[in-house]
Amino acid sequence: MSAENVHVDLAGRSYDILIGQGLIAKAGELIAPLLKRKFVAIVTDDNVGKFHLEPLQAALTAKGIECRHIILPAGEKTKSYAELARLCDALLDAGVERRDAVIALGGGVIGDLTGFAAAILRRGVNFIQVPTSLLAQVDSSVGGKTGINSPLGKNLIGAFHQPVMVLADLDALATLPQRQRAAGYAEVAKYGLLGDAKFFEWLDMNVDAIMQGDVAATAQAVKTSCEMKARIVAADETETGVRAMLNLGHTFGHALEAATGYSDVLLHGEGVAIGMVQAFGFSEMLGHCPQGLSRKVADHLRRAGLPTHVSDIKANLPPPEQLLKLMYQDKKAEGGKLTFILARTIGESFIAKGVEESKVLSFLHADVAKQGLARP
Ligand SMILES: NC(=O)c1ccc[n+]([C@@H]2O[C@H](COP(=O)([O-])OP(=O)(O)OC[C@H]3O[C@@H](n4cnc5c(N)ncnc54)[C@H](O)[C@@H]3O)[C@@H](O)[C@H]2O)c1
Repeated sequence: MSAENVHVDLAGRSYDILIGQGLIAKAGELIAPLLKRKFVAIVTDDNVGKFHLEPLQAALTAKGIECRHIILPAGEKTKSYAELARLCDALLDAGVERRDAVIALGGGVIGDLTGFAAAILRRGVNFIQVPTSLLAQVDSSVGGKTGINSPLGKNLIGAFHQPVMVLADLDALATLPQRQRAAGYAEVAKYGLLGDAKFFEWLDMNVDAIMQGDVAATAQAVKTSCEMKARIVAADETETGVRAMLNLGHTFGHALEAATGYSDVLLHGEGVAIGMVQAFGFSEMLGHCPQGLSRKVADHLRRAGLPTHVSDIKANLPPPEQLLKLMYQDKKAEGGKLTFILARTIGESFIAKGVEESKVLSFLHADVAKQGLARP
């Protein structure tokens, strides 16, 4: 299969997303033209490093590129002040100079952290994304949002810093655990749900193939997702408007992630899956969309093996009042008011600012009470 190229059009910060098989093996020839000198530092985590670091290093050194590498602990907790400091010092110690490039080899955690380190190291060095999780290939590696979590909330410390290239090697997904594949699938479905009903229909026919690792179906899903993200990012790079739509399900989902301590109890994509069903349910309650769509969304996501209701979370959740408080840490909160991405139908969402707290609370109470009913 030949590689697909999705262009992110951002004037002087434009770049290409290459999607295909065997791209890590070709990384030397693909990356060499972007380097000012034949040197890179690779940042990865201890899961991804086991499988993909050596092949990447081999491909780079075969083209005469000197490689240093830094391996960080896998997991969301790595997006922290402490690991950021450790990483910046390690990159300086590895000899990264102002005009060098840093490669993020891993999922969204490594991409977000490395991108942020690249944004602030020597006031900004180039970085290249080599996303290895489905979530990172369809979402986090594209668009230049980088950052870490604060104890007060997720992704609250960060910068916009676009990569100079994204290499999405579909072969890397072969080593991705199935639960992580499902979590990434939630973001794929998000694109259909928020703005492309035809894509959602296609996903409904292809979800099983994608989850079983079918390369052609996965390639199509990654490409369509990246095309939509590239379009939205080109229109609104720093999220002053339409880019916020990409947060469908995230206000609800982030609160659930915070309530479960950003841990393996609930992966980011799993929080988004539950959050998207809630966003459709809330839209139904407010009369914005026809009844029954949240059920349809849940049925679809469940086929990917995703949780779709708070009762699927294996932890004691705080009461709705506490979840509401957690929502105020959402980056979209403005002037102390909550913003939600709500739906008119599948494939058509909109930004709802200043949503009344009492309505959110009554939805959350009703949603908890639906325990058991959410399942067919
Ligand atoms: N910057 C953005 O625009 C953006 C968008 C969406 C999500 N995010 C962030 O992305 C993060 C979630 O990303 P994620 O789901 O990729 O998490 P992750 O980076 O933690 O990866 C998930 C797990 O899979 C492992 N893994 C990744 N690729 C693998 C592979 N090929 N083989 C074996 N194991 C592999 C990782 O080691 C990790 O244990 C969150 O922090 C979220 O906030 C950022």
